[in-house]
Amino acid sequence: MFVEGFPVSGRRLKLRINEGGAKLLEVKDLNAGYDFLQVLWDVSLHVSEGEFVALIGPNGAGKTTTLRTIAGLLSPMSGEILFKGKPITHLPAHKVSRIGISYISESLNLFPKMTVRENLLLGAYAVRDRKRISESLDFVFDLFPRLAERSSQLAGTLSGGERKMLAIARGMMSNPELLLVDEPSLGLAPKLAQRVFDALQELRRRGVTILLVEQNVNITLEITDRAYVLEQGRIVLEGKSSELSQNEHVKHVYLGI
Ligand SMILES: Nc1ncnc2c1ncn2[C@@H]1O[C@H](COP(=O)(O)OP(=O)(O)OP(=O)(O)O)[C@@H](O)[C@H]1O
Ligand SMILES: [Mg+2]
Repeated sequence: MFVEGFPVSGRRLKLRINEGGAKLLEVKDLNAGYDFLQVLWDVSLHVSEGEFVALIGPNGAGKTTTLRTIAGLLSPMSGEILFKGKPITHLPAHKVSRIGISYISESLNLFPKMTVRENLLLGAYAVRDRKRISESLDFVFDLFPRLAERSSQLAGTLSGGERKMLAIARGMMSNPELLLVDEPSLGLAPKLAQRVFDALQELRRRGVTILLVEQNVNITLEITDRAYVLEQGRIVLEGKSSELSQNEHVKHVYLGI
């Protein structure tokens, strides 16, 4: 079925989707928020193994809240989160990261007084096997040669783009199966933003499943397989990224055309 979708309040239009692979992450009817403020309303989404999926939407829509809830930093009011078919709805963040989900937040949370290498090793804190840690270091240095060149530099002295790369690289040090990335291009010049998007595509080619939150909708719909549009805490549209980029509402609101 194909519907040229325009969101109608309270309804969710589904564009034609062709996807394979088992569901790695499943979010069902999630309601979440802060104290008495409900931010997410019946949010349902999924990411299949090997997929690159985007979550887009205006400021304040609840994108970060969605990622934080999946990452275990926020406990939902109701709904269910499944990883590989098993419920992780109320699992705390440190356990969520141990089962293979890595969350790279907008604020990066690097340790500025520690070197690039030390920051990376902190990303592997739960890994006991030294050989695996060394393999992960090789992997991220291969992915981001700039970090290899700067491995002894203090994280606080890196450029904005290098800091993003370090945050993504640190998120990879635990060998995650699923990467949740919040606004990796925020504050970066187009060239550096492109470098970060290239790295995400490379990770995807290497088999990592990714759920990406981005304001840069143009590029996001070019590089992802599927996307969800979140507005005022509700998913109003979902579909293949190539089809969403042709959708009138998406074109008008997010692509400025
Ligand atoms: N810790 C908090 N306490 C109270 N309200 C919060 C908190 N964090 C976020 N909110 C509110 O929740 C709503 C959704 O915020 P969220 O950060 O998820 O949006 P977003 O889609 O990521 O926006 P942006 O594109 O600006 O990053 C906003 O109205 C915000 O003010
Ligand atoms: Mg946000």
